[in-house]
Amino acid sequence: MFQAAVVTVSDRSFRGERPDEGGPLVAGLLEKAGCAVVKTAIVPDEQPQIEAALREIADAGEVQLLVTTGGTGFAPRDVTPEATLAVCQRMTPGIPESMRYASMQITPRAMLSRAQAGIRGRTLIVNLPGSPKAAKENLEAVLPALSHGLEMLSGRPADCARLEK
Ligand code: MTE
Repeated sequence: MFQAAVVTVSDRSFRGERPDEGGPLVAGLLEKAGCAVVKTAIVPDEQPQIEAALREIADAGEVQLLVTTGGTGFAPRDVTPEATLAVCQRMTPGIPESMRYASMQITPRAMLSRAQAGIRGRTLIVNLPGSPKAAKENLEAVLPALSHGLEMLSGRPADCARLEK
């Protein structure tokens, strides 16, 4: 069982002007996939605050997976990918590549997500877009492979030859 955190990045949800729909939806999907969501947070679209939240949660050592939702588009205040790049030591480009590949079968707007994913210490950080629909579609595209990656990251022996569906 992996422990996970969900960070919602949204000015309006941070200010309480809009209920956070994406965060609870992502948390529910992770729980359904067998993760225990032990931490949630809402931060504004401010790079220093996003970085601080990612660092604090990853460095606490409690979660193997940290998923963000929001702030991956082209709006001037969309800086979640930049914060993620700044805090990760090793990037995992296959994850956002796969999310965009799968999402392009659904909408050409999928190419507009600048989501990143990478590793800080023993925590995998994965960005998702902000709309609940997009967050769900992107997460579902990569969930089947994540547990194998998290096992490798935790240092547990992982058998890469074993085929998973
Ligand atoms: N991916 C999927 N699967 N489904 C979607 O509806 N929306 C796109 C894209 N990725 C979408 C998607 C759109 S319209 C945008 S602007 C980007 O995600 C970034 O979203 P964000 O700014 O809310 O993070």
